[in-house]
Amino acid sequence: MTFEEAHELIKQTLPEKRYIHTLGVVETAERMAVQFGEEVEHARIAAMLHDYAKYFDVEEMRRVVVEEGLDPNLLEYGDELLHAPVGAILLSRQYDLDDAVLSAIRNHTTGEPGMSRLDQILFVADAIEPNRDYPGVDRLRAEVERSLEAAVVATLKQTIEFLLKKSVRIFPLTIETYNDFVNIP
Ligand SMILES: [Fe+2]
Ligand SMILES: [Fe+2]
Repeated sequence: MTFEEAHELIKQTLPEKRYIHTLGVVETAERMAVQFGEEVEHARIAAMLHDYAKYFDVEEMRRVVVEEGLDPNLLEYGDELLHAPVGAILLSRQYDLDDAVLSAIRNHTTGEPGMSRLDQILFVADAIEPNRDYPGVDRLRAEVERSLEAAVVATLKQTIEFLLKKSVRIFPLTIETYNDFVNIP
């Protein structure tokens, strides 16, 4: 699937606000791929497709988790988590996409221990794209100037703090990813 084909698909699939967010993620992921020497075309395609399943029917997505034998925890930590792994599966069924692209889409919400640098770029770009506006977003943007790893850790902390403040459960994989990226004392 080319970037143009991905763009067409997303324009038809997402509501306008989410489409605008997606264009922001594409722009940010592309810039970060250049900065950190990763495959730019993969970054652009993964960013364009990352929220493909965001508005799909929740029951349908839960069915895919069971059918595909995905982490059963996905059914216990809020439906927000479903669109990333389920989106990657549905896209892989219908389109010819590189494994690196599918991995970045799959991991963009929760992260994953040992995730690739392309995964890291999408994970951070999703949180800092220009349309994002929440307390602390500029601090995350500044971390990107230090290093990719620093930006990933800051984004994980931001995510975990946000969930703590809301008093909701934290997906174990996100905690594991945090532990994986923070250096041993
Ligand atoms: Fe997402
Ligand atoms: Fe997103």
